Amino acid sequence: MKNIFVTGASGFIGFHLCLYLKKQNYFVIGLDNFNHYYDVNLKLSRQKILLENGIEVINGDINNEELLDKILKDNAITHVVHLAAQAGVRHSLLQPQDYVSSNLKGFVCILEALKKHPAKLVFASSSSVYGLNQKVPFSTEDQTDHQTNLYGATKKANESLAFAYHHIYKIPMVGLRYFTVYGPFGRPDMAYFQFTKSILEEKTIEIFNNGALQRDFTYIEDIVKGTAAALDLNADFEIFNLGNNKPVELLKFISILEEKLNKKAIKKFLPMQKGEMLVTAADISKSKNMLNFHPQTSIEEGLGHFVKWYKEYYSSF
Ligand SMILES: NC(=O)c1ccc[n+]([C@@H]2O[C@H](COP(=O)([O-])OP(=O)(O)OC[C@H]3O[C@@H](n4cnc5c(N)ncnc54)[C@H](O)[C@@H]3O)[C@@H](O)[C@H]2O)c1
Repeated sequence: MKNIFVTGASGFIGFHLCLYLKKQNYFVIGLDNFNHYYDVNLKLSRQKILLENGIEVINGDINNEELLDKILKDNAITHVVHLAAQAGVRHSLLQPQDYVSSNLKGFVCILEALKKHPAKLVFASSSSVYGLNQKVPFSTEDQTDHQTNLYGATKKANESLAFAYHHIYKIPMVGLRYFTVYGPFGRPDMAYFQFTKSILEEKTIEIFNNGALQRDFTYIEDIVKGTAAALDLNADFEIFNLGNNKPVELLKFISILEEKLNKKAIKKFLPMQKGEMLVTAADISKSKNMLNFHPQTSIEEGLGHFVKWYKEYYSSF
């Protein structure tokens, strides 16, 4: 039996993970601070669905150490999935302190809480840790010393902080480097979401680096299965890539989206954005071997699910 605490539970990945874990009959409780980085109504919609499925999401901040202690203790938590973070590359150029607060200070609060109430930790890292790495696909064996933005640097710091606490306090920990996760109830700040909105509203979409970018888009259902497998893993400390292992050119991605929406995009080509990476591509051999991680969803199928959800969700307002 697992008693699982999920931070960032009203976020995109947290929401889907909580539903999945609940279906496995585990006890699941969440925490989220419902910040205004993107549409809070979407976070509240996710919270409502979670509640309907018997999952409480407490409104609170990971920097509240007393609250963390109470949640871990009162619920006899055995596993923590730490997903709460300030995400986004562009925002890190504008509001750097948000990343310091949630991704650095907040991360240490989680580690300190685990020091008092030991539980297995699975935490979200990111493909952004690979930064300027040239060798593709990115392997967890590769050096990760040159992040291209503050967000990526905080995620790399999380891996280092986690290892140090694991080393001293022997708490089992798994870090998951997620690669561009997409799907229903996704994040409105991400390009695929904004492209969909703009194409439907016949507004111009901005394409950086003239479209010469590649992303290893990974469907949410595959990510959730990989994350749940990390909870089951019997390991001291491990880092995994969770990606699709099939990078897609941005222009190809847009043409698939146009097809799913049955509408052409109005494109504006712009130079490379500061802090962006040219390519993300995951080597998932270690995840296949140790987590039995085999992503199943093609970009065509996954975008189809996303577009269907998007149209239904936004037609109800
Ligand atoms: N979605 C992706 O493509 C992707 C890729 C790589 C890594 N990640 C990582 O995965 C995790 C989940 O990402 P997501 O896409 O679901 O993002 P999300 O923004 O939808 O979810 C994060 C949730 O955490 C909450 N939160 C933020 N700071 C908090 C704090 N201080 N206290 C309590 N709650 C707080 C937010 O309100 C949000 O609901 C994050 O750590 C993110 O960095 C995501």
